[in-house]
Amino acid sequence: MASNKQDHAQWSSSFGFVLAAVGSAVGLGNIWKFPYMVGESGGSAFVIAYLFCIALVGFPVLVAEWLIGRRGQKNPINTFKDVAVSEGKSSSWGIVGATGILGGFLILSFYSVIGGWALNYITKVGTGSFAGQNSDSVAATFDGMLASAGTLTIWHTVFMIITALIVGIGVTRGIENAAKIMMPLLGVILFIIVGYNVINGGFGEAVNYLFAPDLSKLTVDVMLAALGHAFFTLSIGMGIMVAYGSYLGREVNLLKTARTVVILDTVIALAAGLAIFPIIFSNGLDPASGPGLIFVSLPIAFGSMAGGTIIGTLFFLLITFAAVTSSISLLEPSVEFLEERTSMNRTMSTIAASTVIWLLGIAALLSFNLWSDFTIMGNGIFDALDKLTSKFLLPLTGLAGIIFFAWRMDQRSIQQELNLSNGTWQIWQIVTKFVAPIAVIVVFVAALVG
Ligand code: PHE
Ligand code: NA
Repeated sequence: MASNKQDHAQWSSSFGFVLAAVGSAVGLGNIWKFPYMVGESGGSAFVIAYLFCIALVGFPVLVAEWLIGRRGQKNPINTFKDVAVSEGKSSSWGIVGATGILGGFLILSFYSVIGGWALNYITKVGTGSFAGQNSDSVAATFDGMLASAGTLTIWHTVFMIITALIVGIGVTRGIENAAKIMMPLLGVILFIIVGYNVINGGFGEAVNYLFAPDLSKLTVDVMLAALGHAFFTLSIGMGIMVAYGSYLGREVNLLKTARTVVILDTVIALAAGLAIFPIIFSNGLDPASGPGLIFVSLPIAFGSMAGGTIIGTLFFLLITFAAVTSSISLLEPSVEFLEERTSMNRTMSTIAASTVIWLLGIAALLSFNLWSDFTIMGNGIFDALDKLTSKFLLPLTGLAGIIFFAWRMDQRSIQQELNLSNGTWQIWQIVTKFVAPIAVIVVFVAALVG
């Protein structure tokens, strides 16, 4: 994205903007990460904490990032600098924009590995590998993939090349247009699987598992995981949405637009839960089996449902697509940064950023096999990258952003810009000044101490 106002095209419609924002938000976070985090945290406690975090932290942070981006009209670093200076505050707020570039860089390295799994599964399901298979053989197929550094490397590489090509050639807008068809289709397929589950059992148990409040499981760790995931899933706390905000026209209603994005993202995540957990329960699988959860559960259903090969192939194709619309938003900031700050052109910047991210991804995928014994503070490289970003970088960047927004910016003009009546504005102030920042700080400190 360009930094000058002149070549700064605005979205032709708020619909185009929503597409791009939904494209970035809806991805592997919803379909791959959300279900396995729910499973690792014991179900509904995570879901409930997550919903609270989305509503009370994620939503306001999303609005704040867009508003700041729209005011600054530049890349996140310069936007934070300029907006701070225009409010009479220190230009060192630019740092808040910088941590985001690092975040995107680190996230993409392991995101691409999982994008590679999805790509590999298009071919596996497509060639009928799972037809008539039971849960044991499906799990064996997944373990076989994980054990092969070569296979993982090939597909991670393919995913990274796809991402780099789109960003390098600059056709992200075209991809976002394709999202108009692909995203709704993904929703449809998810609901087909949910429908299959209603007929084939385990559905009631899954609903219970996901939604029946069990606060005994609500530990500090679960809360931090839920908080981090709220940031991850909405693509906030790393400047991406700040950059997107700079493309927003004045007439776009930020609150309504944020509501649309948040609802879509949440619905897709919950639908993924309802697609996966019934299969887990009706096949006696372990919900806490980690990042492989969707890859050991869904193929069982595809292997036995009518038209399963087609539906399954389409499903993995669509989540790969959803992953790509997110990965391009993860790569863009690094590329843009190199393009502006070094003598490299866009092509070279893309190659440079992607290569380093690709190498880091190789390190991440080796932690599933050859380097499985190597740990950083008890975590393999893959987990370390995931935790460092979700539980640390994103929440802290988001916290700084919301503090800047609620405590350092002129509030009267924000009220006008958001077009809030006095009553609603009071609630908004309580949430942005107190509830959201205090929630992040409390969860954070508790997790550090605990
Ligand atoms: N929000 C994306 C998802 O849920 C992942 C992502 C995180 C994309 C951060 C951009 C920035 O899959
Ligand atoms: Na998401």
